Amino acid sequence: QELQLNLEQIEKGGYDHFMLKEIFEQPNAIRDTYRGRLLVNEAIVKMAGVEDNMKKFLNAERIIVVACGTSWHAGLVSEYIFEEFARIPVEVEYASEFRYRNPIITEKDVVIAISQSGETADTMAAIKLAKSKGAFVFGVCNVVGSSISRETDAGAYTHAGPEIGVASTKAFTTQITVLTLIALRLARAKGTMSSSDYRLHLQELELIPEKVEKTLLSDDHVKEISAIYKDATNFLYLGRGFNFPVALEGALKLKEISYIHAEGYPAAEMKHGPIALIDEQMPVVVIATRKGHYEKVVSNIQEIKSRKGKIIAIVTEGDVSVKELADHVIEIPASEEALSPLLTTIPLQLLSYYIAVMRECNVDQPRNLAKSVTVE
Ligand code: G6P
Repeated sequence: QELQLNLEQIEKGGYDHFMLKEIFEQPNAIRDTYRGRLLVNEAIVKMAGVEDNMKKFLNAERIIVVACGTSWHAGLVSEYIFEEFARIPVEVEYASEFRYRNPIITEKDVVIAISQSGETADTMAAIKLAKSKGAFVFGVCNVVGSSISRETDAGAYTHAGPEIGVASTKAFTTQITVLTLIALRLARAKGTMSSSDYRLHLQELELIPEKVEKTLLSDDHVKEISAIYKDATNFLYLGRGFNFPVALEGALKLKEISYIHAEGYPAAEMKHGPIALIDEQMPVVVIATRKGHYEKVVSNIQEIKSRKGKIIAIVTEGDVSVKELADHVIEIPASEEALSPLLTTIPLQLLSYYIAVMRECNVDQPRNLAKSVTVE
């Protein structure tokens, strides 16, 4: 028993929990994900699974993403990225809904299945269904040799390394990294992105690990904010565009490990319901980075403020407007908007982590949850 505990201590590499270790591993995990694939000097993206099946991708009339949980959120981010970069229509489906819906799938569809564990039962069933209808199925998995990685026609691993904490962190950011690489490769092949824009995004993607490192320096500040709101009973998370799925993911993280009720919403939808919930008891986490409809988000923040909601804003370094309105701001380095989810996610992971720790929750093994769900 003692030996086992010590072993666990060593595995946690000096961190209190696997989740915190995995949050801090993200700069290297993202580097590992793009290593050998992102060749900035040559201006190419090299991924064997994509290259070998380029025709399928180029002929795709649409991409259908199937996944569950956090992987589904990565899929939603990729919808924005694929459509923006490669101009391919994307549908993002919960695997559990897709498989039971008699969905319309043809040979002209490319299905991308995203799964950290590669073992999720619903995702597996969705893949089998898609294959039976003749679609080409591409897997984005973390666990090498997993069932899903074997069942799919081709794929790309995330190379995030083992993720032990039940709440997914580095798997999410590395999934987004892989999907971004694929979108860039397809954009180049289809000519849907100008070559300067394409190169800029390659360069910016290479800089993301450094920027994640910088974002992680907000650790202590996020801890202070966590102490203020740890007893809240509800949280609202708002974001727009590329960062709408990040709002969903931030809310999911908080629910999973701290057991606080949280909802993620597209910021503009707030007026269609959630605004009724806002009072002085309600912390609202708003992703308000500089691009991405900044002015509109600022006006959403004003609406929250006038109803006395507490605002925790994720802003771009050097921001002034939001700073004046928000109760707390957490800065992230500037980046291309499409890549910003890789940064805005970080403080939300830390926020959920510290709140859960302060509430004395079992961070790495939250109640009722499993790391991989191999039953329906
Ligand atoms: C479980 C895990 C989540 C994960 C989801 C999908 O619910 O607790 O963290 O996002 O399954 O798992 P997958 O391995 O397919 O990504």
